[in-house]
Amino acid sequence: MQIITTKADLRLFLKSQYPKSIGFVPTMGALHQGHLALVERSKRENDLTVCSIFVNPIQFNKPEDLAKYPRTEEQDSLMLREVGCDVLFMPSVDEFYPSQVLTSINFGTIEQSMEGAFRPGHFSGVGVVLCKFFNLVKPQKAYFGQKDFQQCAVVRQLIVELDFDIELVICPTLREASGLAMSSRNKRLKPTQLENASKLYRALQTLAQVFRDGLPLKASISTIKNTLEQDGIFEVEYIEFVDTHTLAPVGIKHDPARVVVCIAALIDGVRLIDNLLVEHE
Ligand code: PAF
Repeated sequence: MQIITTKADLRLFLKSQYPKSIGFVPTMGALHQGHLALVERSKRENDLTVCSIFVNPIQFNKPEDLAKYPRTEEQDSLMLREVGCDVLFMPSVDEFYPSQVLTSINFGTIEQSMEGAFRPGHFSGVGVVLCKFFNLVKPQKAYFGQKDFQQCAVVRQLIVELDFDIELVICPTLREASGLAMSSRNKRLKPTQLENASKLYRALQTLAQVFRDGLPLKASISTIKNTLEQDGIFEVEYIEFVDTHTLAPVGIKHDPARVVVCIAALIDGVRLIDNLLVEHE
């Protein structure tokens, strides 16, 4: 595996690999099985797989969240080597952003709810970093996990509206045996917190059933929120049923094939998100 830390070296190396097809897996490190599944899929579908590890400062709206983001670069690079990743791009912040970034991207209505509403500027930062990565790596396919459902919708819009010639590949969320969605942020949780965190998945399963049974959505959301918050373990930021493409809130009459239920909650200050397609899961 080539480990590359500068944009110039990355461009040079990828030029030397022409005309190989490139699959790209962008990450912020603290890798888990979910990330490795993206790399493995990219390896199956492309000649060359490039993975980036870059904790992107401009997508964090809270400095303390950025400071606490888990960083495990040595272990990450070992894991990537083991699954046969071809290129690991790991630039420093100064290399990647040599000057203050003045560009921002407004994704319109798709970023006005959920993550976008609770993390102002987050998707602009995600959009900017991905535009830069896409221009540097020039992949044919880019791989993202469904756990970040709204991010996937934002990336889809970015690719379509800015004419990136890239196929977006969205891969299913990998879960622990408890049902907890794999996430880099889980690394900040102690064993008892991890056990509690799996309640989020059970809450989503209950809500998906509520939708399938045609029960009142608002009242059910409120009951689930109260249950999660009752012993002070969780602080729920949002629970929403939304359209899978527009991310607009939906009612009980919406086509179930286009409904996803999404949740964000803090457990002892660690922010977790998860989602479930109501029909398929
Ligand atoms: O999902 C992530 O880890 C990040 O948002 C991404 C896509 C790597 C951009 O920094």
